[in-house]
Amino acid sequence: MENKVRCLFDIDDFSIEEINELISTAEDIISQPQKYQNACAGKRLATLFFEPSTRTRLSFEAAMIDLGGSVIGFSEASSSSTQKGESVTDTIRVVGSFADIIAMRHPKEGAPVAAARKTIIPIINGGDGGHNHPTQTLGDLLTIKKETGRLENLTVGFCGDLTFGRTIHSLVNALGRYKGMNFVFISPAELKIPDYIKEGVLQNYNIPYMETNRIESVITNLDILYMTRVQKERFFNEADYMRLRDYYILDLEKLQFAKKDLIIMHPLPRVNEIAVEVDDDPRAKYFIQVDYGKYMRMALILKLLNIEV
Ligand code: NCD
Repeated sequence: MENKVRCLFDIDDFSIEEINELISTAEDIISQPQKYQNACAGKRLATLFFEPSTRTRLSFEAAMIDLGGSVIGFSEASSSSTQKGESVTDTIRVVGSFADIIAMRHPKEGAPVAAARKTIIPIINGGDGGHNHPTQTLGDLLTIKKETGRLENLTVGFCGDLTFGRTIHSLVNALGRYKGMNFVFISPAELKIPDYIKEGVLQNYNIPYMETNRIESVITNLDILYMTRVQKERFFNEADYMRLRDYYILDLEKLQFAKKDLIIMHPLPRVNEIAVEVDDDPRAKYFIQVDYGKYMRMALILKLLNIEV
């Protein structure tokens, strides 16, 4: 048995043309939601979350419900047969009998690829360890398109935990394929962007970039500032986490030097890296970013189930 259907493990499973089509579908869903309300009638999504999540899982579930479909699943490994020692591959194979499409999150990098080998329905990666998070990226791209009006010629700052932040890895991989991008990586020395991204994406697509540990020195030039939390669960040592967790705190004082039309993004959850006072600044887009994520997941479900509306 081999999975021959289309899945989404990594954002480069999709070409830029396909991503742009998803963006167009999401924009159409935003403008005429009633057209899509029964598109997935009779279809079932399973959300299998072996690792904590609020937004991603509920966003998938809301997406399927808004398409007229239904949802089954679990939100922690401890409430599934994983607790009894079942392999993720077996769990996915079994769930494949009950659902038409699966969205899963797992702490092991590459787990969705391995799991997909034993099922014949589409599998969507909702985050695998510190590796990739392609559906967050889809929502991020729609946010950028809607809030700046373009997906080209942008100077994008990525700030925080660039080593373990999977949302960053996927977003760099997608944005790097659009024209005229310029990246600024802002992180402490211990949390720099991994070499595999530098070689596989930045050098491969010839993207101009710089690295710094000081947000103050670069904020003036940015069109987009993508903040991330330090990924506590991927640290081996509590002392390192405590030392690094509050390294960056974006506040109104720092924003004085930023462009008036800067877009501030964050995949959430936020811990301390954006002061609450920033939430009322018109440049803060991290809550609307959540809405855009749902529309892109709707577009993605339609694509993977081959449903045309
Ligand atoms: C992100 C994740 O899970 O990687 N959250 C999300 O899905 N919106 C970011 C994070 O947990 O820091």
